[in-house]
Amino acid sequence: MLNVALPKGRLGEKVYDMFEKAGFECPSIRENSRKLIFENFEKGVRYFWVKPSDVAIYVERGAADIGVAGKDILLEYEPDIYELLDLGFGKCKMAVAAKKDFRDNPRRTLKVATKFSNIAKNYYASLGRDIDIIHLNGSIEIAPILGLSDVIVDIVETGTTLKENNLEVTETIVPISARLIANKASFKFKSDEIEKITESLARQTEDKND
Ligand code: PRP
Repeated sequence: MLNVALPKGRLGEKVYDMFEKAGFECPSIRENSRKLIFENFEKGVRYFWVKPSDVAIYVERGAADIGVAGKDILLEYEPDIYELLDLGFGKCKMAVAAKKDFRDNPRRTLKVATKFSNIAKNYYASLGRDIDIIHLNGSIEIAPILGLSDVIVDIVETGTTLKENNLEVTETIVPISARLIANKASFKFKSDEIEKITESLARQTEDKND
């Protein structure tokens, strides 16, 4: 049985479509229900819907053999997994943003609000900049407006959230997209199935980019 962790939501449905095309269908998953686990014994596959930010944990600990996670989560938690493929969707970027009139004073410790503390720490360490991290769980854009922080480190997709809150990108840290990931032991012991899926997903990704 190949265990696959899918990120719950629109992205996950797209991912399932690709797995189906790869020959690992499981029709019951399309029935509207609140069930979280779906199996197709004949095809030897079991899918489960998990919170997108939890996919890497399931895969790292072997509860799932493979899964799809955003590069942001992989950079933030640095799970001990194999990253097999860039799926080329779920594209956005990790960026620093600030109020339009913000002028940085490099002699002062920079106050950074973020959900991605590890990414922010690594980024500013690479610049040799002293920072004070303010870890938040969402609605990060409010922090500079209320004076809680000088800047934010967050995901920017369309840029609408920043614009509507009078913030702007000041630096781009890294581009983000969805990645196929595998548990290290599963990659060895279930190599045939994982290889078949990786190849099919790679082909489907290329076809879309042609
Ligand atoms: C993310 C991110 C921004 C927004 C960016 O939030 O934190 O707030 O999307 O998208 P945009 O550039 O298209 O406006 P998410 O929806 O994940 O919710 P969050 O508040 O929990 O971070």
